[in-house]
Amino acid sequence: MVTFAKDIKELISSKEIQKKVKELGEQITKDYHGKELVCVCILKGSVIFFSDLIRHIDLPITIDFIRVSSYGNELTSSGDVRINKDLSSPVKGKHILLIEDIVDTGITLDFLVELLRTREPASLKVCSLLHKPSNKVKDVEISYKGFTIDNHYVVGYGLDAAEKYRNINFVGIYPTA
Ligand code: IMP
Ligand code: MG
Repeated sequence: MVTFAKDIKELISSKEIQKKVKELGEQITKDYHGKELVCVCILKGSVIFFSDLIRHIDLPITIDFIRVSSYGNELTSSGDVRINKDLSSPVKGKHILLIEDIVDTGITLDFLVELLRTREPASLKVCSLLHKPSNKVKDVEISYKGFTIDNHYVVGYGLDAAEKYRNINFVGIYPTA
């Protein structure tokens, strides 16, 4: 029950999110059957989505974490992506699934995909809960997509505005104007 975020208007309910996460998990389970899959959580925004999703993947996966930043405390991308924390294990020869909260300009994922490709994984795919195609700068293939949304700044279910609102259980619109 959220009482601290009354100014956040619900866009996608907790129930809708949970249904979608289950569907994505089932699809991933089918697609990676028999393969050695590493699920990579892109910190911090995807931590909630990641935690829910991996529990719907019925395979002996391993997990790893990477932290990148491009935003600072601004609401628009700086276009300058940095690695703040790298993966803890080599990914050569492994099947990698990058798990992201939202693809906006695509700059972050494009950077990560290019970087991880140089480490020669067996395959590299992207799963994102949200996709905001209106701000696209870089075209990145999203193999598993939850919801496509209009050009709102959204928070909740892991997504933040200046580090706050990550712990709301729905995705809502942050009032920017
Ligand atoms: P991109 O590089 O522009 O695609 O941005 C990717 C990252 O920016 C995401 O992983 C989010 O952390 C953050 N981001 C983009 N749009 C939003 C938003 O509407 N709310 C919160 N974070 C966002
Ligand atoms: Mg993110």
